[in-house]
Amino acid sequence: MAKLKVHFETFGCQMNVLDSETAAERLAANGFELAESAALADVIIFNTCSVREHAEERVYSRIGALKTLKQRKPELIIGVMGCMAQKDGALVFRRAPHVDIVCGPKQESSLAALIAEAQAGRRILALDNGDRIRVRTKPPKDVAEVGQTPQAAAAFERTGSTRPLPHRAYAAIMLGCDNFCSYCIVPYVRGPEESRPAEEIAEEVQRLAADGVKEIILLGQNVNSYAGGLPALLRRIHDTAGLDRIRFVTSHPKDVSDELLRAMAELPKVCEHLHAPAQSGSTAVLKRMNRRYTREHYLDMLDRARRIVPDIEIASDFIVGFPGETEEDFRQTIDLVRKADFGQCYIFKYSPRTGSKAVEFADDVPDEIKKRRNNELLAVQEEISAGRNREKHGKVLEVLVDGSSKNDPGKLAGRSRGNDIVVFDGPQSLIGSITPVHITDSTPLTLFGKEA
Ligand code: SAH
Ligand code: SF4
Ligand code: F3S
Repeated sequence: MAKLKVHFETFGCQMNVLDSETAAERLAANGFELAESAALADVIIFNTCSVREHAEERVYSRIGALKTLKQRKPELIIGVMGCMAQKDGALVFRRAPHVDIVCGPKQESSLAALIAEAQAGRRILALDNGDRIRVRTKPPKDVAEVGQTPQAAAAFERTGSTRPLPHRAYAAIMLGCDNFCSYCIVPYVRGPEESRPAEEIAEEVQRLAADGVKEIILLGQNVNSYAGGLPALLRRIHDTAGLDRIRFVTSHPKDVSDELLRAMAELPKVCEHLHAPAQSGSTAVLKRMNRRYTREHYLDMLDRARRIVPDIEIASDFIVGFPGETEEDFRQTIDLVRKADFGQCYIFKYSPRTGSKAVEFADDVPDEIKKRRNNELLAVQEEISAGRNREKHGKVLEVLVDGSSKNDPGKLAGRSRGNDIVVFDGPQSLIGSITPVHITDSTPLTLFGKEA
């Protein structure tokens, strides 16, 4: 029998990218093949995000767009997995009756079995038991609710055989989140924080490095609360043979300790790159966000980071238009961004998430103001990024070369230790190596150069 072809469409964060890779790997082990496109697939899986309403709307509209395809090709299996599947549960079937499978995160190992059920003509709902969603839609009568499958326990294990970049790989060190920032849905859909044993992580990193991975990116919603201590984990995997670089995301500013910063400074393979989202520059807003640090504490963390780790590149996220955010609060955010001198900022308009604490506050900042604040903050950061990138002209940076540049296939593209995107002239033979690149030009988001 011909192998079934499966196509993934992934939304959301790096954790979801990793989960899709893991799911693809498990399906391949069960006799599936990856399809080059949705049109050629027998199974289409949407791995979804619910962090903002916009992310959910995009998924529902993509699923909606497959309705006629499914009518023409009734044997096509459509699955919805990940955070939005966990949050909406049976509601997905109500909104999109042509969906066959709804399953939460941690079900990567169960997909093959769920697909087999769907092929037998059943619609399947498989959610994780560990979530914190209080209100559930009742499933339509013909939907079989299978709950958390036994395979779900193996959520962490993977071989890395399906990673898209041969020289860079993610490794999950934690699942879930217990921080309950008031705006955030993640702790509800991803469940309680759980750290993976260091032994297992070290083995996985070894396996990946033996398979050609040069850079490992440790993933977790808040890697600084890793149970065995992140500095200890960094030290433990540091000497892995063949591995050249280590990064970790995301860091919660309240937990960035001097010990962690010292480990970054001392361990040559740990890149000088910290993603520690500030979210706001106003202490009053931070308090309502339940972030558990003040503006001063955050600025002090930046000072410590820059003192202990020379040349550290710091990236941040911001939410604009959080309930009650005044113009003065927003000015504090602009001021913090100017003082912080970030390499990069991701800026989001506040989106109320049912189930999170902040929905109890009125979403009182009108959308036009959210948009205006978003654009203003973006412009400030662009100016800062442009200036910071100009200062790199004439310097030589070490770049891990990922492949040809997407926008300019004649050139190569990769990442510096500080996580800058670097596009440069050089021979294809450099792909997969760490190469010195002489920086000659830049935009706010990209550095350009040539092989040094
Ligand atoms: N665990 C990570 C990131 C979680 S989600 C962390 O703690 O940093 C990624 C980003 O989405 C967050 O940093 C935040 O800036 C943004 N975000 C989360 N919930 C949001 C919401 N309800 N509305 C708008 N942005 C949100
Ligand atoms: Fe969400 Fe906060 Fe947890 Fe990050 S730390 S996932 S923002 S609750
Ligand atoms: Fe989205 Fe889930 Fe990640 S809600 S941001 S995909 S953890």
